Amino acid sequence: MSAPRLLVLGSGGQLGAELTRRFAAAPQFAAYSVTALSRAQLDFADVDALRQAVRHHQPQILINAAAYTAVDRAESERDRAFAVNATAPQILAEEMARLDGWLLHYSTDYVFDGSGTLPWRETDPTGPLNVYGASKLAGEQAIASTGAQHLIFRTSWVYAAEGRNFLHTMLRLGRERRALSIVSDQHGAPTTAEALAAATVDLAARLGEGFAPPSGVYHMACAGETTWHGFASAIFAAFATAQPPPVLTPIATADYPTPARRPLNSRLDGSLLASTLDLRLPHWQDAFASVAATLHARSQH
Ligand SMILES: NC(=O)c1ccc[n+]([C@@H]2O[C@H](COP(=O)([O-])OP(=O)(O)OC[C@H]3O[C@@H](n4cnc5c(N)ncnc54)[C@H](OP(=O)(O)O)[C@@H]3O)[C@@H](O)[C@H]2O)c1
Repeated sequence: MSAPRLLVLGSGGQLGAELTRRFAAAPQFAAYSVTALSRAQLDFADVDALRQAVRHHQPQILINAAAYTAVDRAESERDRAFAVNATAPQILAEEMARLDGWLLHYSTDYVFDGSGTLPWRETDPTGPLNVYGASKLAGEQAIASTGAQHLIFRTSWVYAAEGRNFLHTMLRLGRERRALSIVSDQHGAPTTAEALAAATVDLAARLGEGFAPPSGVYHMACAGETTWHGFASAIFAAFATAQPPPVLTPIATADYPTPARRPLNSRLDGSLLASTLDLRLPHWQDAFASVAATLHARSQH
């Protein structure tokens, strides 16, 4: 009997890299044939190559961590954003439906319009404010339309010890400037690739053992909430620099114009994830402490 197969796509990204590391090390996947492909190995713009890759590997579980994530650039590259975030996931789902396997995919809090102050539930109406959010929503709908078994995890404010993210932008700006103005009216939970990958590996192991939860969208973000200003404050408290930390001034989104509009309320309610999939992500402060510890340990070597 051949080994069961798991395929990770987008392995060069923040989440994809963490998934690749964890699946390789997880004892539950020791008996699996795990393949991870980066953009250099499989470009989502090439739909034929995408189909062929799934047909070639024939995974029981496919995890798609690839995405067009340049939120501001998407405003002027609509077609490219939709190709990667909507068309490609549809093809992956069509192929997984043929294989009768599971597709695990990630989406975003940016499918919502950011109104109100309550954490968003999966049943709440969507209303993306920008092209990126619209392309991710189209991807969710395209996957569901294929009838493939799927789990779509909407998450928020993703970062990791590596990658282009808010944490590294703050650390760089903290070295370059004495004062920073940081948006303080967008509310959400910074979520580590580590926490997302740990939950995904746990769930994938159970899928491999026959767990068959309802297909659909689930909210998967770290617990608790803050603002970008709150997150920046935590970052500068955790990373002492040679010089004093920059002075942080809270500002409104309206005072920080960007090509893409962003939602003010990005809170995601994780109750369905807990009740249906038995998954709970750590508090964002604990998840941040883990990434900070990784970076501190690295700087000692
Ligand atoms: N980052 C966030 O704040 C955030 C928030 C909410 C939800 N999410 C979602 O979470 C998931 C993981 O995001 P992440 O933070 O890990 O993103 P990321 O670090 O930007 O990684 C995305 C990966 O997709 C790859 N990719 C882009 N275009 C591609 C193409 N045409 N063909 C193949 N691969 C392509 C990228 O390659 P290159 O680096 O070479 O472009 C990158 O390796 C995504 O579904 C994202 O939409 C992210």
